Formats: sequence, structure tokens, C-alpha cells
Amino acid sequence: MNKFAFIIHPVDAKRDAARKFPIARYLPERVVEWGLKKMSPKMISHITGVRSVTGTEAEGWFVACPLTPRQLLSLPLEFVYEKIIAAGRVAESLGAGVLGLGAFTSVVGDGGITIARHLDIGVTSGNSFTVATAIEGAVEGARQMDIDPARAQVAVVGATGSIGATCAEILSRQAPVVTLVGRNAERLEEAAKRFRAGAAGRVEVSTDIKKGIQDADIIITVTSAVDAVIEPGHLKSGAVVCDVARPRDVSRRVVEERDDVLVIEGGVVAVPGPVDFGFNFGFPPGMAYACMSETMLLALEGRYEDYTLGKEVTVAQVEETQRLARKHGFKLTGFRSFEKAVPPEAIEAIRSRIKRRATA
Ligand SMILES: NC(=O)c1ccc[n+]([C@@H]2O[C@H](COP(=O)([O-])OP(=O)(O)OC[C@H]3O[C@@H](n4cnc5c(N)ncnc54)[C@H](OP(=O)(O)O)[C@@H]3O)[C@@H](O)[C@H]2O)c1
Repeated sequence: MNKFAFIIHPVDAKRDAARKFPIARYLPERVVEWGLKKMSPKMISHITGVRSVTGTEAEGWFVACPLTPRQLLSLPLEFVYEKIIAAGRVAESLGAGVLGLGAFTSVVGDGGITIARHLDIGVTSGNSFTVATAIEGAVEGARQMDIDPARAQVAVVGATGSIGATCAEILSRQAPVVTLVGRNAERLEEAAKRFRAGAAGRVEVSTDIKKGIQDADIIITVTSAVDAVIEPGHLKSGAVVCDVARPRDVSRRVVEERDDVLVIEGGVVAVPGPVDFGFNFGFPPGMAYACMSETMLLALEGRYEDYTLGKEVTVAQVEETQRLARKHGFKLTGFRSFEKAVPPEAIEAIRSRIKRRATA
């Protein structure tokens, strides 16, 4: 049997810790975080039923690393590395051949390189397949909103990051205008210079989120910000936003106050086979994040090697994960937004509202 493990961590200290310790709901967040810091990583569920369309099967485990995004970013890096490596050792002891680093466990430090060096099994951030599905989701969302991606104005928020940079690089080869949005002007300009060489049109930069995305038809947002960065007033009517970040970049107020934009989660994948994750991470049965899926794909291939590591995701790796996904039957699933499915009727309703208002 092909074996993998995937590290997850609480995204919202109180909500996620309360699943295991209900009292956490009533405690101040700092107290919950203090408690989490004292805990050791442990296996929280056995994942069964991953079955490729080729007939190959895989099994795995979720291993919890008890630190929140804020703790992962603000505690001393050595302490954080030790915790993640300890989670990796749990995966090794279970017999996993490849380990996926979930959410902020791949954002911290050097993007998994140090962690991989301390473990005897393969390690991946899952960011290659995350890039592939983010683009596929954003383009499909645009198509359903009657936007032609080949004529659309595109923005990538977090465009100097591991996932964001490669999304921007690939999209700049197709779209007439791509705006790279981030906080560091120098790094943005450096990335833009690289992408301009192969770009189909203009590649612009902005350190102001509102200015950078206010004219965009398609936005992929993938920052490592701890709080939301996209607010209702930032978006033009009819925009499609694919939010890949965990925690989310798009404020809940956007879906509450803007009924004329489409916000979808990036990287939601239907896993082949009668998969049982043994743990509720907020998706309907059979669905997983793209980064989890990349780990499963490597296990199905028996590729117990380091895969996507560091802060650069190559286009070649993105394409390879797409090929492996097709081979094993992993597919981008229907759209989701803030824990709910977005059926085609909801998208049709957004389109009609926009048309009605335009003619009123
Ligand atoms: N959905 C999935 O399957 C999946 C899979 C993997 C990761 N993720 C999520 O994807 C996100 C990014 O991961 P990554 O590995 O690409 O991280 P990364 O390499 O650290 O890049 C993060 C980017 O966000 C920018 N940023 C950070 N804080 C910001 C803020 N307050 N405002 C604006 N920009 C900000 C950084 O810009 P600076 O240059 O200014 O620092 C950088 O460009 C994380 O939320 C992670 O949990 C999701």
C-alpha cells in the first residue's frame, strides 16, 4: 500500500481547538494559543479509500501540528521548525513515505527545505498542484461569468509568494494585463521583470491592494496574511475572485455586501475512490485541498521523494501535477465559497443582477 501523511494545524485557534476541547470556545484566544504551544504533534486520523482510476490505492494519516498561523509566523523559527519536524517524525513512525506540509507549515521559513533535511521521508508543500487548480478554478469561474480570460484584466495578490508568483507567471503568458500585487515594491518589480520576457501583454505592479485589483476581471489572491485583505469596496462589479489563502484573504463582508461578484475557494479537488478522511476539515465527503491531493498523487506514484520545496514553484512541476491528476482521476470540483457550494444557478443569478443593473 502506498502511504502518505499530511500535516494540518488549527487556522482559527478557538474554533479548531474546540473540536477537541469544547471549553476552548469560552477561553480567550491567547489562552488557547498558550495551551496549543505546550502540546505535541499527534496523529488525528487514518485516511482510507484513496483509489486511483488506474486501480492503485493509497492510505494516509492527518498529523496535527498544534500551532495557529499567528504562532507559526511569530514564534522563534527554531521552535516552529522543531514542532513541524516532530510532526514529520510522527508521520515516519506511521510508515508514511511522503509528507505534505499543510497551510502555514509550508509558508514558514524556507518553505519546507529545512524540514525535509531533518526527515527521512519525502516532503512536499503541495504548492505545484495548488497553482494548477487555482488557475483552472479562476479561469472556469471567469468563463461561467461570461468573461473571456484571453481579454481579461488579471490581478494576483501575494504575487511575490511561492504560489502567487507562479500563478502570475503562467497567467501573464495568456492575459493582456496582469497586475502583481504585494507589499514589497522591489520584489514585485523583480518578479515583473522576469515575467515580462514571456508575457502576452502588460505586466504591472502595485503595493496598494485597492488600486491593484479595482479594475481586475479575474483575481487570484494567495497571501500569507493572518487577516482578510480584500474588502467589499476593492472590487469592480462582475469580478471573479479565487481565494487560495488559508486563512482566507477575502473578508466575509464581501459575500454579505456584494451580490455582483463571484468569490470562490481555490484548490478544492474531488479525490477518486471511496475516500474517508476520518476528520472533518470543513469540506463535503470526498473533497480535499489541492496541496493534500499533491501528496496523495505522489503516494499513488510511489514517489517517496522531496517534491515542491522552497519558495519557487516551477511551471514544469505545475504541469507534471496536472498530468498526474489526469492519470489518477483527481478533478477540480464544483465551486465553494465560505463553507458553501456555489451551484450554477447562483452564478446565473449574479450574472442576471449585473445585466439588470446595467440596463436600469
Ligand atoms: N488552498 C490550498 O490548497 C493551499 C495550499 C497551500 C497553501 N495555501 C495557502 O496559500 C497562502 C500562501 O502560501 P505561499 O506558500 O505562497 O506563501 P508565501 O510564499 O509566504 O507567500 C505569501 C505572499 O503573501 C504576501 N503577504 C503576506 N502578508 C501580506 C499582507 N498582509 N498583505 C499583502 N500581502 C501579504 C507576501 O508578500 P511579501 O513579499 O510582502 O511578504 C507573499 O507575496 C497561505 O495562506 C497558505 O495557507 C493554500
